[in-house]
Amino acid sequence: MTDSTQEPSGDLLLRTLAMPADTNTNGDIFGGWIMSQMDIAGGILAQQITAGAVVTVAVDSMKFISPVQMGDVVCCYGEMKRQGNTSLALHLEVWVRPRMSREKGSRPHSKVTEAVFTYVAIDENGVKRRIPRD
Ligand SMILES: CC(C)(COP(=O)(O)OP(=O)(O)OC[C@H]1O[C@@H](n2cnc3c(N)ncnc32)[C@H](O)[C@@H]1OP(=O)(O)O)[C@@H](O)C(=O)NCCC(=O)NCCS
Repeated sequence: MTDSTQEPSGDLLLRTLAMPADTNTNGDIFGGWIMSQMDIAGGILAQQITAGAVVTVAVDSMKFISPVQMGDVVCCYGEMKRQGNTSLALHLEVWVRPRMSREKGSRPHSKVTEAVFTYVAIDENGVKRRIPRD
């Protein structure tokens, strides 16, 4: 359970809506769909930092905290955790805002998952390249 006083870590990288086509047989949203949103979000930040193309090389410490439901607004946040020569590790979090509801007792904005995604900067041949330093 997320502490209601907690706030997302990092910048908002992506915001989207969980649609009916993204549900599993329990009626919740597929974990794989959520991971793909995180990968897209992290890729945006990684491309920005490395000033070019990247590939995902690893996903670590993935933790699903609570299910996402159809109609939830899914927000991916991220920040850099470590920068290497050609790779960088991003800490990514997904928070959801429940679908608009007038019902009392609707769920608050809460963290549903977090993980560390590692990206490698690549050149036009798909070969790793050094990340430029400022
Ligand atoms: C990513 C890729 C280009 C790396 O090529 P490589 O020449 O074998 O690179 P290396 O093994 O030397 O690793 C490159 C960097 O990634 C890091 N890395 C490699 N595997 C890692 C892992 N499992 N976890 C964390 N970091 C890892 C290395 O530490 C190194 O970082 P550094 O240069 O900052 O020190 C290559 O493995 C590849 O193309 N993989 C497939 C990627 C892909 O298709 N992803 C899915 C779709 S986007």
